[in-house]
Amino acid sequence: MILKEIGPHSVRFAGVSSAPAVGVVAAARGLSMNVVDYSAEALAAAAPCDVADRLEGGQIVRFPVCPLPLPDEADQRFLRDELPARLRLKNISYHPEADRVRGIEAAADVVARVHRILVDHSRAVDAFLTATIPSLTRHWRLGTCSFRPIEERGRNLKPHASNELVHIDAGAYGATNGDRILRFFVNLNPERDRIWATKGAFPTLFDKYGEQAGIRPANGSAPSLRKGPLDYARTGLVRLLTACGLKMAHVLDSSPYDRVMRQFHNFMKDTPAFQADREHHEEIRFAPFSAWMVLTDTVSHASLSGQFALVTTGIVPLANCRHPELAPINLLRAA
Ligand SMILES: [Fe+2]
Repeated sequence: MILKEIGPHSVRFAGVSSAPAVGVVAAARGLSMNVVDYSAEALAAAAPCDVADRLEGGQIVRFPVCPLPLPDEADQRFLRDELPARLRLKNISYHPEADRVRGIEAAADVVARVHRILVDHSRAVDAFLTATIPSLTRHWRLGTCSFRPIEERGRNLKPHASNELVHIDAGAYGATNGDRILRFFVNLNPERDRIWATKGAFPTLFDKYGEQAGIRPANGSAPSLRKGPLDYARTGLVRLLTACGLKMAHVLDSSPYDRVMRQFHNFMKDTPAFQADREHHEEIRFAPFSAWMVLTDTVSHASLSGQFALVTTGIVPLANCRHPELAPINLLRAA
């Protein structure tokens, strides 16, 4: 299978091969062009690199039944019942580099229980992904594992923090320098779907909106991706702070690439015409106890509604990609 020939929009199917032919059928039937479903059987039969190729090709890989062990029923009830009133930041997150939970205001025993649940889930996700997409997880950096206790619809967050506006992820992970952002989601709501919107992946969005967003050459004015002295100085300072014990200092780092991607992220959220664009717009439902994963630096997404989700983030080295020409940094370089 060669994803370059499929393009950023592919098809939904239950198997793992002959995607273009299935795509014709899928399109004719009005099925999703952005999602690929893997049943347990399809996952077991998947060829090496198949799932990773789907991710690199800009698809959302969805599992109708979460393929890894979830917190037990008592812990799930605890997360759903106890945490909404205790949220103090956008999410409640376990940070592995500091071995600490942030975003919660609660008694020590409550925080300790959240810590245990999120650490266990993070390890389960890591083990599953290491087995399923080993080419991508080699030397990857496992990041936060979050629980999202609040209904997404109508949260009234500031626009740049809003999950309800379609965007690509950028700028919240320190300096990725072109490495990829992989996120694994689980809908822990026992009754309601989580609903996303997407407008497709970076290659299409860059073609259509890159100039308008100021990240694609127009009269030679595209931003440079080359690091300057201030970038090296900042990275050196962050390393020093980390060595001095500030374990989450890496999020303070940046790079020209990360700033360009943040510019595109902000453009998307700040531009009503983009949000209203229906050309590649699609809404996607994730049923209770389903899971899905996606490279969120390329696939645009918004959480339109839903409450109670687990979200695990990892940074995948660009060098792991089998299709580096589809990575945003190389599309930016080639423009
Ligand atoms: Fe996002």
